[in-house]
Amino acid sequence: MGTPEQILSDRLAHAFAAVVGEPVDPLVQRSQFADYQSNAALGSAKRLGRKPRDIAAAVLAAADLDDLVEDTEISGPGFINMTLRPQVLGRMIGAAGADARLGVPPVDPETVVVDYSAPNTAKEMHVGHLRSTIIGDAAVRIAEWLGHRVIKRNHLGDWGTPFGMLIEHLLDIGEAEAAAELSVGDLNGFYTAARRKFDGSDEFKERSRRRVVLLQGGDEATLRLWRLLVAESKQYFMKVYESLDVRLGEADFVGESAYNDELASVIAELDRLGLLRSSEGADCVFPAGFTGRDGEPLPLIVRKSDGGYGYATTDLAAIRDRLTTLGATRLLYVVGMPQQQHFAMVFTTAREAGWLAPPARATHIGFGSVLGADGKVLRSRAGGTIKLVDLLDEAVDRATRAIAEKNPDLDAGPRAEVARAVGIGAIKYADLSTDRLRDYTFDFDRMLSFEGNTAPYLQYAHARIRSIFRRGGVTPGHDGTPVQIAEPAERALALELLAFPDIVAAVSESMEFHRLANYLYGLATAFTAFYERCPVLKSDEPSRGSRLALCDLTARTLATGLGLLGISAPDEM
Ligand code: ARG
Repeated sequence: MGTPEQILSDRLAHAFAAVVGEPVDPLVQRSQFADYQSNAALGSAKRLGRKPRDIAAAVLAAADLDDLVEDTEISGPGFINMTLRPQVLGRMIGAAGADARLGVPPVDPETVVVDYSAPNTAKEMHVGHLRSTIIGDAAVRIAEWLGHRVIKRNHLGDWGTPFGMLIEHLLDIGEAEAAAELSVGDLNGFYTAARRKFDGSDEFKERSRRRVVLLQGGDEATLRLWRLLVAESKQYFMKVYESLDVRLGEADFVGESAYNDELASVIAELDRLGLLRSSEGADCVFPAGFTGRDGEPLPLIVRKSDGGYGYATTDLAAIRDRLTTLGATRLLYVVGMPQQQHFAMVFTTAREAGWLAPPARATHIGFGSVLGADGKVLRSRAGGTIKLVDLLDEAVDRATRAIAEKNPDLDAGPRAEVARAVGIGAIKYADLSTDRLRDYTFDFDRMLSFEGNTAPYLQYAHARIRSIFRRGGVTPGHDGTPVQIAEPAERALALELLAFPDIVAAVSESMEFHRLANYLYGLATAFTAFYERCPVLKSDEPSRGSRLALCDLTARTLATGLGLLGISAPDEM
């Protein structure tokens, strides 16, 4: 089968090939002038030196579209407009309505590693980690839903020189006090106090240095204190993940330290491959294509002059592990844009080492900053890092008030559930509905509004459809029989619904979740227009059954689409 877009694309591709003499992507897309439009005649005409309208006419004459299309037209300079037969739409909606997968075909499963969240031990997660967690969770959900084998990697910053000062500070204040501070989530207080001593006291600085050496040398007493710091921090991060309702678990923490035993062998392998060069006492890789401002090749430092390993070495060990040991063919790194060049260099090095080779691919899923009302990176009122739990709590509090106002009759139990879904959903949706490469402004009022392109609007649209079934005493579901598509608003809604598989496929490739968000918003809008013009429960058969099928498929598509974004859709709110 396939979606209308895919079927039209296939048919036109044959016709184009016959007319043009070579494969052409017909560039079929939805259009405001007809159901679908193909814009490919323009490009082909240029290459052949013919008139676009002539090419379009020849393609239409050669295309086998009769069973699908009731009307075609060549418009403007040579666009091919196509209007589907209502029976075809009705048949396709009937089939999608009976399909638990909403018409989305099975995929060839691959192993996908998603590297995301990755906060740092004994340090508050900042909004960049929040974005990584939200976007990464959506990436995990869409890949899992499509049937891929997904491995989550929370690349926790749990190793390196700061641990000298953190452990010394822990010893100063005592284990019990340290555990208490960290478990209530006062990570910043702990970190800042350690930092202040480090900057202010030579004696402390010296102790910290010695402690790092002990840690790296595997001193058991030091390792025990390090483990304590890491464990307390993980517990705090797990609380954030639970409030955020993301799929990250304890087992997904595979921190930087997990690669310690691999670092020497990574360097040995790079050396064997002839990729290692010594520069100012450090061992470096110079991946092809990277130069600094002065035009000199840029190094990726894999062993510092003091013999220590750094962030890049760990990432090389991690990428080798993911590609060779885990056998992944798709690697996603959900990390902010400032690290774009770091990942480009790691990927190129992995290619040069032969670890990263087709069909495997690695992609940096970058993102911009979260801004406050002042247009600067979001900070707390005091100017420090915002505590994420506070941010999440405030969203849920505000949602609780909004729900109480909108639906005072909702019982306390479901109200708390709904408020959580709305509050957390609003934060996630505000993030995912903007092009991730752009910065966005964190604005509680806007994200929690029941109007506009927001989570509450979509959740409410979903709940409203579910209430139609409750009011009518109708059990949702569809047996697959063709539905009747008669009114223009029914047709517009059907076309939106049938595009869901196309959007899911595109988004799973590009990880541009704002395209899924915009699609869901468009779907909810099409539903509103339909519902204003087409009575459902009060209409006669076969209209009633058909419209109920459209309602049910819309509700399921909204709930599924929001679910892929990590947002739940309550049945009642
Ligand atoms: N912990 C790092 C930070 O806070 C992010 C790690 C991203 N993942 C990676 N594989 N390097 O900036």
